[in-house]
Amino acid sequence: MYVCLCNALKCTQFKAAAKDGANDVPSAFKACGAKPQCGRCFEEADRVMQTARIQHGVAVA
Ligand code: FES
Repeated sequence: MYVCLCNALKCTQFKAAAKDGANDVPSAFKACGAKPQCGRCFEEADRVMQTARIQHGVAVA
């Protein structure tokens, strides 16, 4: 499912970024080689990343 329509980024990409240590949404964009645009996806992207951190036991700095 797409989370960020501006950059065509899927939830799997945000989950992978969180699992790999991205600790916020801007870091996830950077990890995906994308830049935030409208910002409408931030809340959903953050939620997806928080869930991934919990599932993978990634500590939040
Ligand atoms: S939907 Fe993600 S920046 Fe616009």
